[in-house]
This record gives sequence, structure tokens and C-alpha cells, in this order.
Amino acid sequence: MRRVPPWPAWLKSPPTPPPGKLLVALTGAGISAESGLSTFRDSGGLWEKYSIYEVATPEAWLRNPELVLRFYNERRSQLAQVQPNRAHYILKELEEHFTVIIITQNVDDLHERAGSTYVLHLHGHLTRARSTGDEELVYEIGYNSITLQDRCERGYPLRPDVVWFGEAVPAYPIAESWARRADIFVVVGSSLQVYPAAGLVEEAYRARKFLIDPRPTLTEGIEVIAAPASAGLERLKAILLG
Ligand code: APR
Repeated sequence: MRRVPPWPAWLKSPPTPPPGKLLVALTGAGISAESGLSTFRDSGGLWEKYSIYEVATPEAWLRNPELVLRFYNERRSQLAQVQPNRAHYILKELEEHFTVIIITQNVDDLHERAGSTYVLHLHGHLTRARSTGDEELVYEIGYNSITLQDRCERGYPLRPDVVWFGEAVPAYPIAESWARRADIFVVVGSSLQVYPAAGLVEEAYRARKFLIDPRPTLTEGIEVIAAPASAGLERLKAILLG
């Protein structure tokens, strides 16, 4: 278990893209579906099998921390078995042509494993644990489980470093500032049901906007590519690079 800064290092020296070259991608569970990870709200998705209120709220943590830990421990061990897919790699490849900022709602590490340079996790990281007594104390735990006995260096129990329903989203203001600057804004594999993340689409008011999703939930004011993430991103790449 290794202590890590709660924020990505690149925020200290953010990139300065040339005019017209900032591509911001808002990714959701759909981008990792082709890797074999379940989405939340599709039929057969995680929220059909588990109750949000029992595993993903601060109240759940107070009531039954063991169940909450088990839920995230399972997610983490599943993550260890899967690989990034073509969609994650295309976002990396687009860095040859654009400054690509990825704002992800996902707690998996597949963008990092695909090599993307600038990744901001709105809803936290599965591969990290956080102190319940001091939110600055964050630890890289890889794909290992968190147990009820685990403690931070100040003696507080550890929790998953994820944002639960009803909690603040501390990365949102930074995400919002990138969305507002975007020249191209691409949503990949998100039902856009969860706020404030979904609000970023509105914030990207300067951008040419795309939504890549086989079952898109938004059609107004956005160019829809109704396809799975990998095929959709191939198509986007062809559109952008002409
Ligand atoms: N490629 C692209 N999109 C896909 C694919 C695929 N292969 N398969 C499914 N999808 C789409 C679905 O059509 C849906 O629109 O992915 C979307 C998944 O939506 P959700 O399950 O709601 O996931 P997401 O939008 O990321 O959820 C947001 O909700 O529960 C919370 O914190 C959790 O970050 C998550 C947030």
C-alpha cells in the first residue's frame, strides 16, 4: 500500500493546447463494456443485481461496511482480469492529433492502462483506498481487497476511494473548466443519468459535440454515433481526421 496524491500530477502543469485542438472525452461504463465489465443501467447491469442504497451510499457504509467492501472488492478483482479495449486505445491514439483530456465517470483504470496522458476520475478509483478520517490520505492498493481491519497511517479505517451517491464530486469544477474550453467534446458510453457529470455536456458550449452509444439517451444538439464504443470511436476518428 503506497500513499499517492489525491489529485493527478498533471493538474500542477496542465497542458496548453493550440487553438482548435482540445478534445475532451466524457467516458462512462459503456466504454469498458467491450472489455467485459458490466455497465450499471443496461439490462443485466450492476444496479439490477445490487441496490445502490445498500452498496454505494454513505448510509450503506455506516450500516453494513462489510457488504460495501465486498461489492468493491469484487469489482476490483474483476478489473484485474480484464484489459483495455480498442476504444481506450483509440482515445490514446487521438493524442497524436489533439490534446486529449479524458474525464471519466469510471472507477476502473483502463484509460491509464491504455496509456492516456490526461485522465481525471470524477467518481474515484477502484485501485485506491482512502482514509475515513482524512480525505487527503489516499493509497494505491492495486487489485487487492480492502478489509475492515485496514487502517491509514493515522489509524482510521480505510474505505474505497469512490464517490458514492449523495457525496460531493470534488473533481467537478476542474472537469467543468475543461469542458468549457473544449473544441471537440465526445461522450462515450454513458446514459447521462447521473449529475453533475451529465451537466458537462451543457458546459461544453463552444465545442462540436458527439455522443457514441448504441442506445443514445440524447439526440438534440449533439452528433450521435449509434454504435459500440470501439466502432464509434473509429468512425469519430475518420470524421475528425477527414
Ligand atoms: N459501447 C458504448 N456504450 C455502451 C456499450 C458499448 N459496447 N454498451 C452499453 N453502452 C452504453 C449504454 O447504452 C448506456 O447508455 O453505456 C451506457 C451505460 O450507462 P450507465 O450504466 O448508466 O453508466 P454511466 O453512464 O457510466 O453511469 C454513471 O452512475 O452508478 C453510477 O457512479 C456510477 O459512474 C457511474 C454513473
